[in-house]
Amino acid sequence: MARVVKVFRTLRNHWKKSTFAVCVLSYGGHWLHLQTLLLLFTCYHCLFQEFGRQQIEPHARLRKATVVLNPAACSGKANNLFEKNAAPILHLAGVEITIVKTDYEGQAKKLMEFMEQTDMLIVAGGDGTLQEVVTGLLRRPDQDTFSCTPIGFIPLGAHNSLSPSLHLLSDNKVKDITSATLSILRGETVPLDVLQIQGEKEQPVFALMGLRWGAFRDVAATISKYWYLGPLKTNAAHWLSSLREWPLVRDVVVSFTAPSLRPPDLPPQKPTRPNLLYRIKRRLQNYWNPPVEEPPKVEEPEEWKEQQLSTLELFVQTHNKNPVQRRLNDSLMICAEPDDFTVGEFITVGKKKEEDPTVFTKNATILEASACHLQLPEGAGGFYNIDNEEYEAMPVEVRLLPRKLQFFISAERREQLLSQTQ
Ligand SMILES: *[C@@H]1O[C@H](CO)[C@@H](O)[C@H](O)[C@H]1NC(C)=O
Ligand SMILES: *[C@@H]1O[C@H](CO)[C@@H](O)[C@H](O)[C@H]1NC(C)=O
Repeated sequence: MARVVKVFRTLRNHWKKSTFAVCVLSYGGHWLHLQTLLLLFTCYHCLFQEFGRQQIEPHARLRKATVVLNPAACSGKANNLFEKNAAPILHLAGVEITIVKTDYEGQAKKLMEFMEQTDMLIVAGGDGTLQEVVTGLLRRPDQDTFSCTPIGFIPLGAHNSLSPSLHLLSDNKVKDITSATLSILRGETVPLDVLQIQGEKEQPVFALMGLRWGAFRDVAATISKYWYLGPLKTNAAHWLSSLREWPLVRDVVVSFTAPSLRPPDLPPQKPTRPNLLYRIKRRLQNYWNPPVEEPPKVEEPEEWKEQQLSTLELFVQTHNKNPVQRRLNDSLMICAEPDDFTVGEFITVGKKKEEDPTVFTKNATILEASACHLQLPEGAGGFYNIDNEEYEAMPVEVRLLPRKLQFFISAERREQLLSQTQ
């Protein structure tokens, strides 16, 4: 094991070279990504144990990592690999790695119900897989314990909305996967907000990016139908939809509560335990002068404000697009485009939203809240996109769970995001 640690240190010292090495390693085919992943985070765990040896008792329990892999998101080779290797548990350098392969929609969510405690969770898939994992995790009765379990996201899907928040992006999928894997190896994490979206009857769904409802969403869902128009397909889809119906305005009543102040960020490292003498002294002090017990906090009733919005599109989103930005409040954003677009503006804005649906025009209404209710007009059908997954539109309550989950982030991306906010 010492050797592996040494190799890892060397890699760390020659970061550029090691990135290259990993790229070459993983270029041989998609299933190799997974091997790279396993190798890398075995190294990570070796290192982890090396540094943490003082705290590890002789009979420390095995460290566990769980990988949720959606092979549909990667090439056929990965599928073959998993059919051959039926045993999904690997033991590598004292780490028990459980690989959970998901075969059908909804399975990842179910599997989360039965997952045992794990020291690290890796999600290799796209938006759909990630949402199932997060939703499955947060529906568990013991979901609180997962707030400290670091989650790694390996972008294998067609849509990976969370990737730009965590990893350096390139136009090469292999590089993106490598960068995501390296971020897990380096172990730096960032807390992300989660939205709890609750319909009247259904169980809640959890989202990391947000809930989108409106004309731009509806058109975006049809763009692929116009594939034969090549680069004109986005414009065409918007124009044709404006011919079918115009204006595309929707009315919605939004009630919301004010955001709450964000507590100061905790230091990234746990404070070291104070020495024994100090602890004894403090205990004695507490004994002679017991600290005054704080009076129980009286929960202030939430004050709901109501606003009628007439909009082309509504997006209830988190701040996870830039998770490292310093913020005063913990809040979700209710963004609503105005209702007075011309057809020309509809097409230009639609094109921009096709690249990044979270951007809003200058005249958009933006409300900050800690929770909100969406009341749709009678008979309003249609669909929401919740983190890019389609759901039937219905009245919902959206509630912010601030800094709920820890995700691995690449140090380089963190720097980039920090410099964007200055
Ligand atoms: C933070 O929230 C309070 C209400 O709780 C609001 O008055 C204030 O404007 C918010 N600050 C920012 C920077 O959004
Ligand atoms: C924003 O609103 C103002 C006034 O209502 C209007 O003059 C302006 O054209 C609008 N801008 C856009 C980009 O729609």
